Amino acid sequence: MNYIAQIREAAELIRESAHCYCLTGAGMSTESGIPDFRSPGGLWQEIDPIKTSSAEVLYNNPRVFYEVAFTRFARITRAEPNAGHRSLARLEQMGYLKGLVTQNIDGLHVKAGSQRVWEVHGHLRSGYCLGCQKRYPFEFLVEQVEGKQIPPSCPTCNHMLRPDVVLFGDPMPPLFYEAWEELAGQCDLLLVCGSSLVVYPVAELPALARKLIIINLEPTPYDHLAAVVIREKCGKVLPAIVELLEA
Ligand code: APR
Repeated sequence: MNYIAQIREAAELIRESAHCYCLTGAGMSTESGIPDFRSPGGLWQEIDPIKTSSAEVLYNNPRVFYEVAFTRFARITRAEPNAGHRSLARLEQMGYLKGLVTQNIDGLHVKAGSQRVWEVHGHLRSGYCLGCQKRYPFEFLVEQVEGKQIPPSCPTCNHMLRPDVVLFGDPMPPLFYEAWEELAGQCDLLLVCGSSLVVYPVAELPALARKLIIINLEPTPYDHLAAVVIREKCGKVLPAIVELLEA
């Protein structure tokens, strides 16, 4: 199938579906200037996630976590949604997309206007105290780290603060299981955008869908099960699909 036929087929499957959902990964935001993890030149080729960005590092060596992983998080908050994010918000507004599961912590789906978003790896809008559990805006953590207060601490009880993100070694949040149940019960079509589909348990979600569309620059372990696989950029493919559905 050539590219035009793939786009048409994808648009047709979305039009015919009753309960289409979307699953996104880091490839969704590379066009917003945020590098992904596993592409050639991706972040995990540069730094070791377990030695810099895991729960174990946060608890045992917070200075490394805050100087490496957290500094990258703080940069991400300045990114803006791209045409792909805006197209997914439009698909929901048009009634085609029932919800969106994202592994991204950048908050760009929310910024683009998507309403039903499960941010299953957390987000960068807040953090909380490991002692009294009090929540703080993410900016409050950034201000302390920029002022060399590392790790940032709670003004009420003085315990360490941590961002609301799911690190390697953390349990998945309850909202992941909410998303899981809804997809297992309803999803007749899953649109996967910009994910290598190798990180579990999120990588189990495509197995719950009756049909799959995969938009990803590189092959994934689910390609052989997909009705359509499009090896192009999300920022090109998704607006083209929206255009066909709006016509
Ligand atoms: N359009 C489509 N695909 C893209 C684009 C793009 N513009 N840019 C990159 N990609 C593809 C890459 O080819 C790659 O296969 O997106 C995929 C991104 O895969 P990963 O880097 O593995 O990201 P992701 O699947 O989100 O990783 C899952 O791993 O380290 C953890 O917690 C982190 O949430 C992350 C999880």
